[in-house]
Amino acid sequence: MSVHTETKKVTTHTLQRMKANGEKISMLTAYDFSFAKIIDGAGIDVILVGDSASNVMAGHETTLPITLEQMIYHAQSVIRGTNRCFVVVDLPFGTYQSNSEVALASAIRIMKETGGHSIKLEGGEEVIDSIKKIVGAGIPVMGHLGLTPQSIYKFGTYSVRAKEEAEADKLRRDIKLLEEAGCFAVVLEKIPAILAKEVTQSVQIPTIGIGAGGDCDGQVLVMHDMLGINTEFKPRFLRQYANIHQLATDAVSAYIKDVKEKSFPNEQESY
Ligand code: KIV
Repeated sequence: MSVHTETKKVTTHTLQRMKANGEKISMLTAYDFSFAKIIDGAGIDVILVGDSASNVMAGHETTLPITLEQMIYHAQSVIRGTNRCFVVVDLPFGTYQSNSEVALASAIRIMKETGGHSIKLEGGEEVIDSIKKIVGAGIPVMGHLGLTPQSIYKFGTYSVRAKEEAEADKLRRDIKLLEEAGCFAVVLEKIPAILAKEVTQSVQIPTIGIGAGGDCDGQVLVMHDMLGINTEFKPRFLRQYANIHQLATDAVSAYIKDVKEKSFPNEQESY
């Protein structure tokens, strides 16, 4: 008799059910096989292969330079490290804004070449045709409103969005449009907690907050920030759960010392 143990995989339906049951959704970014394996193994619900890879993996100042090919490489690596969680892959800047045909072609490449489970793109009304087209092809779409880093040169700063009534009103309209267009969830980045609570209650689909208070249906953080790999970025919304920068620095310093002092490798570490 063979014993068959099956891991229950997270799907868009799981996330929908979690919102309905009031169970919070946990989401973190990952960009490579090894960390994806750790994060999935720890029991995360969703991994986002974020275009923040442009910042934390490639060292760019913004998310704009990363290419579709580079996102595909990161997503392929993450998929190989995951078993249970739902994987969302960002469509990078320039791969969906021009028209809905281009957007669909980009989304299809992500799905076909990476094995990812869905895509995410930034914006509201401006990208609604693209969202409809992608959803129409059977690809789950996560929206992203509030601070949308691909528009940093329009905003000028990374400060809190939708503090003014006109921008808050647009966000209220946009989240409804995203829901009607078929998005299965929406990221709300850096907006007032009271607005995030209001719009979260106004839609049936889950909202995932980053700097948007505790009333979103889930939370997302950039892995490098919450693990303290990247220690220069310390916004108010960030909770740092480890100091990997210090741990890694100490480990590397100890290794250098051992090599210099000829105590590594020792006899047991040699053949
Ligand atoms: O790319 C990213 O990491 C993101 C999160 C900040 C939501 O979009």
